Amino acid sequence: MPEPTVSDRTAPTPPGSGPVTPSPRTVPLCSRGDIAPGEARRFDVQGLRVALVRIDDEFFAVGDRCSHEDFSLADGEVWAAECEIECAKHGSTFDLRTGEPCSLPATRAVPVYHLVVEGDDVSVVLP
Ligand code: FES
Repeated sequence: MPEPTVSDRTAPTPPGSGPVTPSPRTVPLCSRGDIAPGEARRFDVQGLRVALVRIDDEFFAVGDRCSHEDFSLADGEVWAAECEIECAKHGSTFDLRTGEPCSLPATRAVPVYHLVVEGDDVSVVLP
């Protein structure tokens, strides 16, 4: 009798037990008026660090961890006209719309999170 192959020993996957695609989660962060125009603030949301930035009446959310070293972007300066935030440690700036670095020494993008602004409430959509 031949030895069983790997596929012979693999049990079929029962329906519904395959890989689960995580569904987005919307988590309230704050009220509109809690953040002044030109301000950035860090939120710790279900294990993620999120930097929420307000420019005029628009809000942006990026990962609150510089891609150069582990440093909070929310501690940096907001460049409203450029729609960028500057890392306070070594000065890299990041585009708040794309997360891409605009200046060295950072070379990798930071994550960008979608926001839902409804009425006075600002919420982040986690991946
Ligand atoms: S830690 Fe942000 S540029 Fe170095």
